[in-house]
Amino acid sequence: MGGMFRRKEIVLPEGRGRLSRTLSWPHLVALGVGAIVGTGILTLIGVGADRAGPAVILSFAIAGAICACAALAYAEMATMMPVSGSAYTYSYAVLGEVIAWVVGWSLLAEYTLVVATVAVGWSGYMVGFLSGLGIHLPGALTHGPTLVDGAVSAWGINVPALVIVAAVAALLTLGTRESATINAVLVVVKLIALAIFVAVALPYFDGANLQPFSPFGFAKTMGSDGVERGVMAAAAIIFFAFYGFDAISTAAEEAKKPGRDLAIGIVGSMIACVAIYMVVAVAAVGALSFARFADSPEPLALILRELGRTGVATFLAASAVIALPTVILAFLYGQSRIFFVMARDGLLPDRLAKVSARGVPVRITVFTAAIVMLFAGFLPIDAIAALANAGTLTAFVAVAVCMLVMRRRAPDMARPFRTPAAWLVGLGAIGGCLYLFVSLPTRTQLWFLGWNLVGLAIYLLYARHRVSNA
Ligand code: ALA
Repeated sequence: MGGMFRRKEIVLPEGRGRLSRTLSWPHLVALGVGAIVGTGILTLIGVGADRAGPAVILSFAIAGAICACAALAYAEMATMMPVSGSAYTYSYAVLGEVIAWVVGWSLLAEYTLVVATVAVGWSGYMVGFLSGLGIHLPGALTHGPTLVDGAVSAWGINVPALVIVAAVAALLTLGTRESATINAVLVVVKLIALAIFVAVALPYFDGANLQPFSPFGFAKTMGSDGVERGVMAAAAIIFFAFYGFDAISTAAEEAKKPGRDLAIGIVGSMIACVAIYMVVAVAAVGALSFARFADSPEPLALILRELGRTGVATFLAASAVIALPTVILAFLYGQSRIFFVMARDGLLPDRLAKVSARGVPVRITVFTAAIVMLFAGFLPIDAIAALANAGTLTAFVAVAVCMLVMRRRAPDMARPFRTPAAWLVGLGAIGGCLYLFVSLPTRTQLWFLGWNLVGLAIYLLYARHRVSNA
């Protein structure tokens, strides 16, 4: 029993196993913004508006504030333990093996499902972009089965989503790494597209579009159509838009001055994204009545078209098509690292983490891509995003708990970055994430519970013994 709670000492790899320190804070901010800005702001803003009405602006502010607290806790932990593995590694060092397993298992869900969600979001913009060029794909090939009251009303398969996952996975297995320069260029493309959206949509701002501001109330409540709505229900989905900064912590071993650079990278990219999202949300909701873009697979482009700015809409769709795959790449790549560290610790079979001659974990990449394609091809975007959020919320709670436990257990340990008002921020992150978790659709919570029960069974029957025997 004692073994389940054993803690792992953090040892920085030396010599050959050590990565070279080449990244400074501008790279890290670009890396963060590159992983954060994606389907959340481009697509889920429509789902959020459907759940909260114009008060989706408030949902953005709430999810952003909670993520900012979590980002501060991440900055403290990542600079204290600048090694790969992120929340899983911190939990192993601070909270013990079984909690680390639950966190690692949740991260696997997060990374897999984020890739699926972004692929479905990309598909929405790709289909819109192609139809702007006069190429119309048959409807049944552009989305998964349509569900009405839990029953399938129309069959379909999201072919573009499958294609983009396969393409990015193929790129990764060839050993193509996301280079800092390509990432930086694509980040600029994304930001220019959003800036142009704001510049075009804001002059159409009409206060009447914000009335009534909060038609579905604040707390999660079940609507007559079986969909749970409210400002918090929207915040629990919109939360998706804000994460990705945690990916920076996986670059910890490569930061030039981890203390300063990681903190600026994590907190800086978070603050930049909260500011950008708030402006985009106000511009979107103010320009067009939310009901007109709530269901759209490409809401920002649709708003521009409704305003008569077809050319700008095509530019925005093209930017999304070009730049969204960076989020897929970052998360598919990040997942291989988490798998890796878990296999290195003995919790997963080493065979799975086998590296090809080119230094790529091909089996893991292909295995992950196959699972992602099942989700991306057949499930609606809001369902996958909600499940990804459940996994991420678990990791965020764990990191904030780790930060507070370490403040008590080792108050004098060197902390290159100290979270200001740590208890307030830490408890804010934990309380906020738990509130977002209960605001997720009930069905999502049950799926997530099922996922973790399967995970715990694997831990008790298999992984625990492997580590003990290692
Ligand atoms: N925050 C990332 C996105 O919105 C995952 O695509």
